[in-house]
Amino acid sequence: MNQKSSPGKTDLLADLLPPPYHLEAATWRDVGALQRLEKVCFPADAWPLVELLGVLMWPGVVRYKVTDGEGEMVGFAAGQEIEGAGWIVTIAVHPAHRRRGLGRVLLEACEAALPQPVLRLAVRASNRGAQALYREAGYAIVDRWPRYYVDGEDALVMEKRRGV
Ligand SMILES: CC(C)(COP(=O)(O)OP(=O)(O)OC[C@H]1O[C@@H](n2cnc3c(N)ncnc32)[C@H](O)[C@@H]1OP(=O)(O)O)[C@@H](O)C(=O)NCCC(=O)NCCS
Repeated sequence: MNQKSSPGKTDLLADLLPPPYHLEAATWRDVGALQRLEKVCFPADAWPLVELLGVLMWPGVVRYKVTDGEGEMVGFAAGQEIEGAGWIVTIAVHPAHRRRGLGRVLLEACEAALPQPVLRLAVRASNRGAQALYREAGYAIVDRWPRYYVDGEDALVMEKRRGV
């Protein structure tokens, strides 16, 4: 009898990453690396330290990181249940490592870990790159939140519905 357990969804997703990247669950130990990544990826919207610690520690939050060959975090995404829907609350890939499929794998890892049939996220109206990633992943715009961001920009809410 084959004693090897079958691979989980995140193992399969990790295989989609090109070498030397590695997908793994993030923990509170990643707070410094996450703070550095957020500052680079969200110059206008970087979360304060307390929020970063929350996203890394709150129960019920799913969180994944991608590391490079040196073990440095170069991508991060997190999701959680809010009012019955699974929300992707953040996703960021370091500029030097973009367009290699890391964002897609991080998004899919969070989606796989969230059990809700409806998935949602908010994105800056001007952020066409992220919107392209979400559209490709099956999300469509369902709402607009006027002046949601600190600089007054609108947010678009995008949603994906999956199997009943
Ligand atoms: C959005 C972000 C996470 C995408 O990460 P990424 O690792 O570059 O994304 P991927 O390589 O997995 O892209 C997958 C697909 O999404 C689409 N896509 C991603 N970025 C895109 C861009 N800038 N322009 C157009 N399409 C884009 C493409 O279809 C891409 O496939 P392709 O490269 O084969 O054409 C990254 O650009 C980022 O961190 N941006 C700053 C932070 C941010 O805006 N986060 C989202 C907040 S809602």
